[in-house]
Amino acid sequence: MPRELLIEAAERWGTPLYVTDLDAAAAAAHAWRSALPGALVAYAVKANPDPALLRRLVIEGFGFEVVGPVELALALRAGCPPERVVVNGVGQTDADLADGLATGALVNAETLGALDVLVHAGPGRIGLRLNPGLEADTHPYLATGAADAKFGLALDELPVAMDMVKRAGRAVASIGAHIGSEIDDPQSFGRLATLISSLAQETGATQVDLGGGFAGSPAAWAAAVRPHLPEAMRLIVEPGRSIVRDAGWLLTRVARVQARGHLIADAGMTEFLRPMLYGSRHAVTVLTPGTDLPPHEGDWTLSGPICESGDVLSRHVEEPSGEGALIAIGQAGAYGLAMASTYNGRLRAAQAVIEGETLRLSRRRETLEDLVARDA
Ligand SMILES: Cc1ncc(COP(=O)(O)O)c(C=O)c1O
Repeated sequence: MPRELLIEAAERWGTPLYVTDLDAAAAAAHAWRSALPGALVAYAVKANPDPALLRRLVIEGFGFEVVGPVELALALRAGCPPERVVVNGVGQTDADLADGLATGALVNAETLGALDVLVHAGPGRIGLRLNPGLEADTHPYLATGAADAKFGLALDELPVAMDMVKRAGRAVASIGAHIGSEIDDPQSFGRLATLISSLAQETGATQVDLGGGFAGSPAAWAAAVRPHLPEAMRLIVEPGRSIVRDAGWLLTRVARVQARGHLIADAGMTEFLRPMLYGSRHAVTVLTPGTDLPPHEGDWTLSGPICESGDVLSRHVEEPSGEGALIAIGQAGAYGLAMASTYNGRLRAAQAVIEGETLRLSRRRETLEDLVARDA
């Protein structure tokens, strides 16, 4: 952990503050590239759309997986060539789909209705995102590939889909699926590769897209997947969390102490929803101590300031410290700032990045003026 830089960042820009280490994220992305020579490594922007991070990944030659028109615009603004962008989104409008195709990005149809729009839109690269009907061992909110999930075309819709494609004189550029997140077992991806590559061969697609979601090393993923893919088949992989999870921290200070065992931080569920949403656990490190704590029997909980009892960042804090303590919440680079909200009138946190030994702000803290700027 770049402790001194994190302390300096909190002094310069205040808390709550997200800090992303761009070198660490780039190194994690390179691990995917080294494990899968020739594949398109399309970072899932939803995991952390920090603008400086996106620009760095573009410079390093990576692509992006985006959901819907705004993430697509962010990817293109960051300078990503459209050939390296894959667009997903189960609820995209007709205009979103047609406009996405017109940019030159690969646009995946997830429903027959979306496919109908795409095959009748202007030229462009159309992909099919399938629901593979595969269960993955993960939190139920993070599983996306089971047969009853809302994502992707059902396997038994594929003949109808291919008929629509052929009748419109179009072709399918890619067949893919994303089975969920935080999946530890590489064999889940081996099974997915077997299914998707045989469907790609049946449909004439020359690319397979196996999504993101693996929690282990890219080398282990590659070893499980590669034997199931023909040499000539181009591969797209969409890792998000594994690129940024360990490259980001949320910095927060203890604002108040409730002697009944609550350290009330200046960040909570509005800055970092994951502990509340998925019960995720994160390292809590005291960077600079605060005031002494009053006596309390039992564990201290790091709670947020939001009017919700579930607003907890961490239970059983190992190193509790009082008012003013500066705390780094670790493994916060993925799905942290991306899920921030303004509930309870919270202004979204500032974002900083580390590159080499330097620190810079990549997005300033939201202001009240920003919040009311759209009021009619
Ligand atoms: C279609 C798609 N691809 C890739 C990802 C990235 O998953 P992860 O961050 O777990 O690697 C997601 C996450 O939800 C997704 O929905």
